[in-house]
Amino acid sequence: MRKHVFTLLAGVCSLLLLAGTVMAGDVCIDCHSNISPGQVKDWESSAHAKMGVSCDACHGDAHKNAIDYKKAVMPSEQVCQECHEEQFTSFSHGKHNYGWKVLNAIPATHFAPDELIEGGRGCGGCHNMGIKTEEEKAAQLAKGYRYQTNSCDECHTRHAFSKKEANNPKACRTCHMGYDHPQWEMWSSSKHGTRYFAKKEGDLPEGAAAPTCQTCHLPNGTHENHTAWGFLGVRLPLPEDPQAAADRVTILKALGVLDPETGKPTAILDAVLSVDGVRTTQASWQKLRNEMLDTCTQCHSYQYAKEQLDMGDDMLTKTDRLMAEAIETVAALYQEGIIIKPEGYPFNYPFILALMHTNGANWDENLDGFSYIDQVLLQMYFKHRMRAYQAFFHVNPDYAYWYGWNMMTQDLGEIKHLAKQMRADHKK
Ligand code: HEC
Ligand code: HEC
Ligand code: HEC
Ligand code: HEC
Ligand code: HEC
Ligand code: HEC
Ligand code: HEC
Ligand code: HEC
Repeated sequence: MRKHVFTLLAGVCSLLLLAGTVMAGDVCIDCHSNISPGQVKDWESSAHAKMGVSCDACHGDAHKNAIDYKKAVMPSEQVCQECHEEQFTSFSHGKHNYGWKVLNAIPATHFAPDELIEGGRGCGGCHNMGIKTEEEKAAQLAKGYRYQTNSCDECHTRHAFSKKEANNPKACRTCHMGYDHPQWEMWSSSKHGTRYFAKKEGDLPEGAAAPTCQTCHLPNGTHENHTAWGFLGVRLPLPEDPQAAADRVTILKALGVLDPETGKPTAILDAVLSVDGVRTTQASWQKLRNEMLDTCTQCHSYQYAKEQLDMGDDMLTKTDRLMAEAIETVAALYQEGIIIKPEGYPFNYPFILALMHTNGANWDENLDGFSYIDQVLLQMYFKHRMRAYQAFFHVNPDYAYWYGWNMMTQDLGEIKHLAKQMRADHKK
């Protein structure tokens, strides 16, 4: 009996709490219907509105009028976690959770205008992903920028928070496009993407197969995203073939993760590992590859899909050959004292993670002397090598050849030509 009374009391209490919440939310809605009507309409269309999850559930109820609006809480991912534990946990294990960290680990970031980092355009516009620590938030505030507190609204945007929107491949487009990762361009013009659009336009039956980004990268509602190779397109252990192994080592030196003199791992390797940047064992790589193959076999035979992905790996090895030759050509100029090591560089060796800088218009005087040939080398890696292998995996013929492989050979030609010229000029 006492137990029943307790249950009853608890029930009444939660009803009262619920009534309280609904009321607090109504106040917000009344006023915000005038201030920002589009926003309120958006929320009204959401599953949250239907389930009574109102403004105050995410923003609290401390802000009550037009003056005290700074008291409104900007909800972090932990607020979503209160009701969506599964997605929060899964997200926190994925690569998106490293977006902000990896950006801040790159030297170039700190030479770019703050508006393009903390201000949320440029690098910061896409890398504003991941649960921020209190220190990270404080660092952003100290620079005078409001920090973005939530990454969950990157795919199902506020305040509709729609599952359907997140399942649209366009939800990935804002970030997965352009210079060094044109996945949108590659997928949308591939046969996979073409089928998706033909189906949407009614030219294929409902049951027709058309894989989207989410089919292959966020299968079965997971929020944990990982690929076997990852962005840098390198991994450990080294391949068995001696030439392929030597080429990989050359690339690892230019990434600054191996010391060019001793071949020993550096602190930059630790930094790369701390953001889950490369697979360090054959087993961890193979596990991700097998998961991808499972996805392909929804629609292709296992053997067919495996051959396709194996060819992608072979293409990567071939891009490494061109890349290593280019790196060695530029490295020789450092050795001969024809290029003077810029101060920000870890070694007297080309440094690919410097990313793009314009010579002359320096954001930082330490980078004075960043040579043109180095810029061609960076372009070869980030623009053209990326395209050559990413396009292979995304089944895009044109990006794989003309925008990828072909441009790499062109870069290598230019680098060799420039090196010859620089040597001749140096002798004068
Ligand atoms: C009497 C009107 C009024 C009421 C009631 C009200 N707001 Fe506001 N709210 C404002 C105004 C005005 C702003 C500032 C708008 C601007 O910057 O143009 C604001 C701003 C905000 C912001 C943005 C804060 C920021 O840092 O930019 C949030 C979030 C917010 N309100 C949520 C709520 C919630 C949740 C409630 C209910 C608990 C609520 N509001 C109730 C008028 C109101
Ligand atoms: C499910 C949680 C949730 C609910 C419910 C919610 N918001 Fe928000 N709101 C957010 C998130 C997340 C942000 C972005 C925070 C960030 O990234 O810094 C945000 C941002 C805002 C902002 C500032 C940014 C902008 O675009 O103007 C305002 C104002 C705001 N919300 C008002 C409201 C109002 C009014 C309601 C109710 C009609 C509401 N919110 C309901 C989660 C919510
Ligand atoms: C107070 C609890 C609560 C909070 C806090 C909350 N949600 Fe929800 N959310 C719900 C409920 C209830 C539903 C509807 C039932 C369901 O789909 O689980 C929902 C549904 C959703 C959906 C699916 C919508 C659809 O189209 O089916 C998304 C996406 C979502 N929430 C995202 C978020 C995000 C992002 C945040 C944080 C900014 C958040 N929620 C905060 C309770 C909450
Ligand atoms: C248009 C959105 C966008 C912009 C702008 C952008 N990035 Fe990225 N960045 C991404 C995406 C998406 C990935 C993952 C791509 C992939 O794996 O192919 C990524 C990957 C990276 C990685 C590799 C992460 C890893 O774990 O291997 C680094 C480092 C990085 N970006 C740094 C930067 C820096 C520095 C800038 C500015 C100079 C920048 N990004 C600008 C979207 C962007
Ligand atoms: C990279 C894009 C992306 C990000 C970032 C993202 N989601 Fe999602 N979310 C999705 C996709 C895609 C779906 C649809 C999954 C499906 O069809 O089952 C989804 C679905 C959901 C749903 C609805 C689940 C269901 O089956 O009803 C919730 C709730 C949700 N996400 C919460 C979150 C939360 C919380 C965060 C932040 C911690 C977050 N999401 C971040 C892409 C994303
Ligand atoms: C707001 C920008 C943004 C959006 C939207 C976004 N991503 Fe990303 N994504 C990133 C960034 C930044 C990274 C690199 C993070 C890192 O490596 O630290 C990344 C990494 C990835 C990776 C991991 C690649 C690797 O190196 O292993 C995959 C897979 C991925 N995203 C898929 C998706 C899919 C699918 C969607 C759409 C449902 C999506 N992303 C939406 C910014 C975004
Ligand atoms: C048919 C399946 C499939 C589809 C559809 C697909 N991808 Fe991929 N994606 C792959 C494969 C396979 C890889 C390479 C995986 C590996 O490393 O083994 C890959 C790699 C990636 C990577 C990591 C690239 C890198 O630099 O190493 C990102 C990021 C990515 N895809 C994003 C997307 C986005 C965004 C879309 C949609 C516009 C998309 N993918 C569509 C299969 C797919
Ligand atoms: C949801 C179903 C689906 C998934 C999953 C899928 N594909 Fe496909 N794929 C198709 C369809 C349908 C075509 C178009 C066949 C045609 O051109 O006649 C296609 C075409 C291809 C082609 C081009 C074939 C040609 O004849 O031009 C390749 C290569 C390919 N897929 C590889 C893969 C790989 C590798 C994976 C896994 C990473 C994968 N696909 C995942 C459905 C799928």
